[in-house]
Amino acid sequence: MYKLFRGDCLEVMKSFPEARVDMIFADPPYRLSNDGLTCQSGKWVSVNKGEWDRSEGLASDHEFHLAWLGECRRLLKVDGTLWVSGTYHAIFSIGYALQSLGFRILNDICWFKPNASPNLSRRYFTASHETLIWAAKSDTSRHYFDYEAMRAENAGKQMRSMWSIPSTPAREKTFGKHPTQKPLTLLRRIVSASSRPGDIVLDPFCGSGTTGVAAVEQSRRFIGIDRSHEYLQLAKKRIESVRQQSDRVMEAAELYIAD
Ligand SMILES: C[S@@+](CC[C@H](N)C(=O)[O-])C[C@H]1O[C@@H](n2cnc3c(N)ncnc32)[C@H](O)[C@@H]1O
Repeated sequence: MYKLFRGDCLEVMKSFPEARVDMIFADPPYRLSNDGLTCQSGKWVSVNKGEWDRSEGLASDHEFHLAWLGECRRLLKVDGTLWVSGTYHAIFSIGYALQSLGFRILNDICWFKPNASPNLSRRYFTASHETLIWAAKSDTSRHYFDYEAMRAENAGKQMRSMWSIPSTPAREKTFGKHPTQKPLTLLRRIVSASSRPGDIVLDPFCGSGTTGVAAVEQSRRFIGIDRSHEYLQLAKKRIESVRQQSDRVMEAAELYIAD
């Protein structure tokens, strides 16, 4: 089951009742669209992702993070957890906001992209990672972690906080493109590590719906919010495709049981 809402996530979240959500994954605007250049397939291209990603200055960007994270905290159940992804453009402000609001940081994951584009300017190290902060609602939260699933995924060894996952492959873009679409491997791991079947998973910046796909595939209930109608259409197509597949598997299982 899933539901998609179009609008500003702050306003949409304010309309939801408190303490009903088990897990939140948020991939907010990193505010890095500053007319700079980057390299893609060996060519210089603009770093701009869209107007929604433009910085409004350090103080205003921090206020924005405080506001939406505050709403997320209100929506989380007492034992709920929240994940946020970001690069250095936003992640330090987000980390400070999380601590100011009373979240307890559980892990900071380094998501290493082994296929990151080279740095054409040769004046910096090649940016090849993002940070994922995983936090519990408060100091007293008894958060859920599927330790065994993570160990099994890591060939029987404890899963570490450094994840090597390539950036989103072309085969995950067959329904259309989003400029900052996250890879399914990343979201599948997050959903499986920190939520149970039947749980409510929320993504306030759902974009192309990657969190929804991973959640619905793994029998979680999903709520996605985005300002863009176009991105929500894409999210709907992607989530519907896996929902129909999982429904077919369920139907086949029921037929098998009936025989
Ligand atoms: C970094 S992208 C998320 C990408 C997503 N994780 C995916 O895999 O496709 C951020 C998204 O937030 C949306 N957005 C930006 N500001 C928003 C706001 N205030 N409320 C709701 N959505 C917003 C943008 O339209 C964009 O799709």
